[in-house]
Amino acid sequence: MPVSVPVVCIDGPNASGKGAVSRAVAERLGWRRLDSGVLYRALGLAAARRSLAPGETGRLADLAAELDLELRGDRVLLEGRDVTRELATEEAGARASRIAVLAPVRAALLERQRAFRRAPGLVADGRDMGTVVFPDAACKVFLTASPEVRARRRHNQLRHQGMDVSLACLFEAIRERDERDRIRETAPLRPAEGALCLDTTHLGVEETLERVMEHVRTTGRRAPPGGSGKPGGGSHRQTPSGDT
Ligand code: DC
Repeated sequence: MPVSVPVVCIDGPNASGKGAVSRAVAERLGWRRLDSGVLYRALGLAAARRSLAPGETGRLADLAAELDLELRGDRVLLEGRDVTRELATEEAGARASRIAVLAPVRAALLERQRAFRRAPGLVADGRDMGTVVFPDAACKVFLTASPEVRARRRHNQLRHQGMDVSLACLFEAIRERDERDRIRETAPLRPAEGALCLDTTHLGVEETLERVMEHVRTTGRRAPPGGSGKPGGGSHRQTPSGDT
């Protein structure tokens, strides 16, 4: 792993604002971005296509290791087909959360996520970026917001994408997913040691971004010692061999 490449980790629950913030931070720094939730969502979709049940841990882990996934900016190609829209649904999020409790599945996705770490730097968002995937990162952020505000944000997001879901159903789905992500044994959702914890309930994206950028300025550009990075490209294709 090219460990000298700096990483900014942005973790938090569903709809805490980490997607918008990590995208903006990556843009400002000119670094690549990893939305790790996409890997779990894509795996969930691939598993559903094969009618794999959450109990089929071995087959799900094999599938995670072999998954043919290409991330082109914000577009996601699974087995050569654009599935961006399918992955944006709350159903895809819930499916992802159910398979994300499985330790062998998480292990199979670990190196795939670390392969995104390329010069000049990476902004990674998810649940365990700072605790498990990039524990040596110098800059870690944990975003939260009240469940009500998060449900409203997600509701707006989905409506913006043309998906109509009731706010009450969404609130319940988010609550259930948060609980599952928080109490699981492997890589549960929690702030990493030393993370800047920001409650964004009363903060807009701009203000959150400024506070995160301030933290990045004081910590995040520092690369951990040792190793050497290699330049990254525009799209990121992951083959069964794990090549990128
Ligand atoms: O961030 P998201 O909503 O796209 O993530 C979907 C689910 O995937 C989330 O509920 C739990 C799982 N996930 C995870 O366990 N670890 C990550 N680093 C990212 C997502």
